[in-house]
Amino acid sequence: MKFSLNNSELKGLSSDMVAMGAFQDTLGQSPLFQQLDRELGGQLAQIATEEDFVCKQGQTLLVHTTGRLPQARVLIVGLGKREDFSLPDTRAYAAVAARTATARGCRSMLLTQPPVDASAQDRAVQFLVEGTELGRYRFESYIAKDDRTRDLLTEVTILFPAGEDDIPAAANLSLTRGQIVADAVNWARDLVNEPPSSLTPERLADQVQAMAKDAGLTCQILGPKEIEKQKMHLLLGVARGSTNEPRFIHLTYKPMGKEKPRRRFVLVGKGVTFDSGGLSLKPTAGMLDMKGDMAGAATVLGVARALTRLGLQSEVHILVPATENMPSGDAYKLGDVITGLAGKSVEIVNTDAEGRLILADALAYGDKLDPEEMVDVATLTGACVVALGPFTAGAMGNDRALMERFLASARMAGEDFWHLPLPVRLKEQLKSPIADLKNCGDRWGGALTAGLFLREFVGKSLWLHLDIAGPFTADKEWGHLPKGGTGFGVASLLDYLKGRDEAS
Ligand code: BES
Ligand code: MN
Ligand code: ZN
Repeated sequence: MKFSLNNSELKGLSSDMVAMGAFQDTLGQSPLFQQLDRELGGQLAQIATEEDFVCKQGQTLLVHTTGRLPQARVLIVGLGKREDFSLPDTRAYAAVAARTATARGCRSMLLTQPPVDASAQDRAVQFLVEGTELGRYRFESYIAKDDRTRDLLTEVTILFPAGEDDIPAAANLSLTRGQIVADAVNWARDLVNEPPSSLTPERLADQVQAMAKDAGLTCQILGPKEIEKQKMHLLLGVARGSTNEPRFIHLTYKPMGKEKPRRRFVLVGKGVTFDSGGLSLKPTAGMLDMKGDMAGAATVLGVARALTRLGLQSEVHILVPATENMPSGDAYKLGDVITGLAGKSVEIVNTDAEGRLILADALAYGDKLDPEEMVDVATLTGACVVALGPFTAGAMGNDRALMERFLASARMAGEDFWHLPLPVRLKEQLKSPIADLKNCGDRWGGALTAGLFLREFVGKSLWLHLDIAGPFTADKEWGHLPKGGTGFGVASLLDYLKGRDEAS
């Protein structure tokens, strides 16, 4: 997709469609609307009235200009109430515009800025680009060629108000950043949507190896023997029930030509490529989405893909323990006691609490890399979805400042995270009579006991745990989010790393 920025008059810009956004009940006040309406001899306002179009969130009005404007169509997208709108919602506007343009066979589109302060316009550019690319996303590799969406859109021009100052230089950076972020998010979505038998741990590792080569990252892949040598027995335990071997993926990003990187980060992603529950087998309904139990991995791998292009000055390690969780004659059993890399023994009381086991080994491995901060991302507990619903992720950790910085980044990136506690008293649930820990507690506070379990393995690192079991997938399309894998978390983490990289 070719994106460009332009601040010339509309009448000199021919295109298949021009899109604008307006807040609820404010359409008539928009100077852009007034201008378009004038050119169309008052018909735009008349049609809006006749169609009861008041710019409710998601409402759209498409009008052909039949040669009276150099743009073949005008699309107005409702942005909802002004007080409910925040800058990242710009993505939803652009996504709706891009999908409408695609559905109508448009090749080119003019995207006008949403009605935000001039000071926010360069940042809005990033969201316009992200929204366009995220909104156009489709997972159609398993659909017959003839039935795939025909997407002819190749040219998007982002318009700044004509006649005003020059386009700010920051807007160009913002454009590039939008492209980088959207590319990373869409790549993560592909990984989540891929069927589990075509994305086994081995195939995931192959894909990552190819990506790492493109993205200029060092890639180390450990197979069962090397995992054993590293003493990651918890990962091996979970993997035992499957005929498909586990992999441990370790990507390293180092800034070019820099003796001493700014900071060192470790990102860990849960990579269960299919979670059947193991011997504690899930019922069909609970197993249906479990090809996406590697969404945490997809998130940190999406981040990895963007680091070089973002020009980060810090060192980043991306760790993914990848395995299936399956029942078989050789599967790990309830009552087993397993000691992993950290040297703590764990009594297995539920084989469906597998994510925390493989993360425990990965976090212990990460802690040895001596990072300044360590973040894990995982589809860890159904309890987190019960607590926060399907659109909000849980955030837990051992450092308040890190938590607050991250939540601020997530807000900037337009992703919903909520700080959950790690109450010390709950740790009692994890006491085992025969081992250092049990792998799960009772029913209440399931997201928190999972977090408490992980905390035992992070050593001295500052650490943040993100449970994305709700928002990693979506039941239906919404704004810039497709049905299926969402790529949730990539945008926040990229914003976080970039901000942290630039801070003193
Ligand atoms: N992968 C699941 C958690 C999950 C559930 C993710 C729903 C996304 C949507 C995890 O491995 C799991 O099975 N957790 C158990 C933990 C329990 C056994 C303590 C759960 O949430 O039921
Ligand atoms: Mn499970
Ligand atoms: Zn799982």
